[in-house]
Amino acid sequence: MYYPDELIEEVRTKNDILEVISGYVRLQKKGSNYFGLCPFHNEKSPSFSVSQGKQMYYCFGCGAGGNVITFLMEYENLTFQEAVKALAERAGVALPEMEYSQEMKKQQSRRMKLLEVNREAAKYFYYQLRRPQGAAGLQYLRERMLSEETMQHFGLGYANKYSDDLIRYLKSRGYAEELIRDAGLCNVDEKHGMYDKFWNRVMFPIQDINHRVIGFGGRVMGDGKPKYLNSPETEIFDKSRNLYGLNFARTSRTGNIILCEGYMDVIAMHQAGFTQAVASLGTAFTAGQATLLRRYAKEILLSYDSDGAGTNAALRAIGILKEAGMSGRVINLEPYKDPDEFIKALGAEEFQKRLDNAENSFFFELRQAQKGFDLSDPEQKTNFHREIARKLCSFSEEVERENYIEAAAEKYHIGFENLRRLVASYAAQTGFAKPAIRPKSGVHKKDAAGEGIRNSQKLLLTWLADRPGLYARVKKYLSPADFTEGLYERVAARMFEELEQGQLNPAGIISMFEEEQDQREAASLFHAKLARLESVQEEEKAFHYILYAVKKNSYERDSARLGSDVEALQRVIAGKKQLEELSRTHISLE
Ligand code: UTP
Ligand code: MN
Repeated sequence: MYYPDELIEEVRTKNDILEVISGYVRLQKKGSNYFGLCPFHNEKSPSFSVSQGKQMYYCFGCGAGGNVITFLMEYENLTFQEAVKALAERAGVALPEMEYSQEMKKQQSRRMKLLEVNREAAKYFYYQLRRPQGAAGLQYLRERMLSEETMQHFGLGYANKYSDDLIRYLKSRGYAEELIRDAGLCNVDEKHGMYDKFWNRVMFPIQDINHRVIGFGGRVMGDGKPKYLNSPETEIFDKSRNLYGLNFARTSRTGNIILCEGYMDVIAMHQAGFTQAVASLGTAFTAGQATLLRRYAKEILLSYDSDGAGTNAALRAIGILKEAGMSGRVINLEPYKDPDEFIKALGAEEFQKRLDNAENSFFFELRQAQKGFDLSDPEQKTNFHREIARKLCSFSEEVERENYIEAAAEKYHIGFENLRRLVASYAAQTGFAKPAIRPKSGVHKKDAAGEGIRNSQKLLLTWLADRPGLYARVKKYLSPADFTEGLYERVAARMFEELEQGQLNPAGIISMFEEEQDQREAASLFHAKLARLESVQEEEKAFHYILYAVKKNSYERDSARLGSDVEALQRVIAGKKQLEELSRTHISLE
């Protein structure tokens, strides 16, 4: 459901940011802004600011920032649409109802029915666990050291020894056979007819992020096979887009998510206080799950079994995370098999240490690869070094690759230049990444330059947002295309339009973007740190310097493109003139 821009703007302006955030964070007035402890990272002194004038928040510590919609998205882990909806309700703004077609209505109510029958089944299992017939289940779970509270929290249950009591119960509650079957709660065959899918097992209801039961895992109590039986995929149960425990983990606010293999691992970790743990659902980790996790954490800590199968699964998961643009670190559980056993044996504190010391996923990969080579044999050692070089080619960003070459060289005692050459020759063969000339000084000049120009562009936009009156004096020099970094150009374009009309609205600009990450970046454009300067003359000098730097950068980019882009020629000629004029022009700030 997509709401029109005007409606989003209405919802935003009717929810005062100070009022909303005050409901979550204790704020104190300091100058024209309010300050408090940032809810998005741990800190002892307040660097989280809220501006009622700008209707924006920004944390000078961690860079979190945006408007009231962003705040709700970040704090409550909502999507853009969900946050708009919640704020509309808060302010009593009526949002248009989705226009459902007859077909969609039918689908919707069918989903509701499937969710309902699943919930009813979960309640039934839960109840059976506390009955005399569930004693064996309860005993099993207690022996696995689960507290009463934990069992309740996860809604654990028990499926009786009879093979049709769930079906009979559900039917008695008025659910149709067909629905029970489509929910995956029973099997049907010619010989036996319809019978319960789960019997004589302890039951783990699987919930979606909104705590709705969408399926089950059932474990034998002891050594029977299969160890776990899982609900089949249904219209409401997509195993590649849900994760066990995510309904709790999403609000854990630890900044990371622990990804593991088993239901029992998740439960044991939550019980020990690691409420950020999730597991895939009896299937391998998927790209869909990676995308889902990206909404909740930047960093994923892998806590897979320490046996061969677990290691391979971890290696695959690392690849999938990388594709999704996330970084992973691997938790070493040795000498224990999985997090459940580890915590049982050594406790939460030791586990926390292992989290803190989790290994960078690239070095984990190298360490695993190394096992295939006998390093005392020069030939195999060479092959291993080639393997390292090959893997290093996968870093497409130069700075990152250089840093990894440096680290790998040191770790495996390879000469830095030798390894670099090896990487270069692989890159040339495969047409992959091409290592750049390394600056002699050892500092990464290229990125420092990128950082510098990003900062200048940010500063310039912040200046203009803080002093809209300046725009008229500089507009002849500036165009949105001068903002070459990421989404800056879009922000600048909108900003200049608004400045032209004399009604700049930074908080409104933020909601041009629906992704939290983009909103955060857009917010940072209005919060560059302006140096505190003593005199107007100094300020004028600083402003001129920044404006000139931005202009020069865009001019240089245009000139570099000349070869391929005819239009750029016009811009280069114009740009050169502007630059010359600008260098001679005094721009007054008063
Ligand atoms: P594990 O065998 O590691 O199970 O399988 P576990 O969760 O640690 O359980 P305990 O501690 O032995 O009781 C990891 C996951 O693989 C899936 C389940 O999702 C399980 O949690 N699995 C395993 C199955 O789906 N079926 C099986 O037969 C075994
Ligand atoms: Mn286990």
